[in-house]
Amino acid sequence: MKKFITFEGIDASGKSTQIKIIYKILKNQNKKVFITREPGGTNFAEKIRNLIIKSNLTPLSELMLFYAARHDHFKKINHYLKKKYIVLCDRYVHSTYAYQHYEQKIDKKLINFLQNTIGKNSYPDLTFLIDLPVVLAKKRLKSRRRNNDKFDNYDLKKLNIIRKAFLKEKKKDKKIFLIDGKLNKNEVTDQITKILVKKKILNG
Ligand code: TYD
Repeated sequence: MKKFITFEGIDASGKSTQIKIIYKILKNQNKKVFITREPGGTNFAEKIRNLIIKSNLTPLSELMLFYAARHDHFKKINHYLKKKYIVLCDRYVHSTYAYQHYEQKIDKKLINFLQNTIGKNSYPDLTFLIDLPVVLAKKRLKSRRRNNDKFDNYDLKKLNIIRKAFLKEKKKDKKIFLIDGKLNKNEVTDQITKILVKKKILNG
């Protein structure tokens, strides 16, 4: 079985911290593991990432840029999956559903059409959705003092649409596991590792 694992959630949910911790835990068990992120993950896709973040685009232009980046990136992901690596990816298709479909109102059929065109096997096997109330997320974002791209400046209403979108997707998809992002860092890691042990991806 391929092991393509994605980490999703609103900004400041803690997913980027957790993915790095999980990477180290898997490495310590001598597992073959590749860590990556979206948008980005290849030289070309990282260039597109910069374009997306810095530009003011229509939702459709943005979607197509995300897919130009993902098409390039998935070739790399697939290469590692074929070599039996565990692939950990910070954000992926569920971010596209949440941001481009639920928030930007792009037809989900178009997103799935593009995703299927990349490859029928381009969907993740397992997704951790780190859920966090938006008020807490906003607090964390403020203390980060990054606020340098348009996504960091999302207001509470937009963030709420996105949070709810992820939760709706979770209800529909058995491969998504809900993680409580309100807990402290170690507790969040524990929730994730328990699932990885159950799935025999991590040794108990
Ligand atoms: P990123 O900087 O990785 O977010 P963060 O580090 O705050 O988790 O990603 C930039 C933004 O791109 C993020 O706010 C969500 C957005 N995004 C989409 O809108 N659609 C997508 O398909 C992906 C992968 C990301």
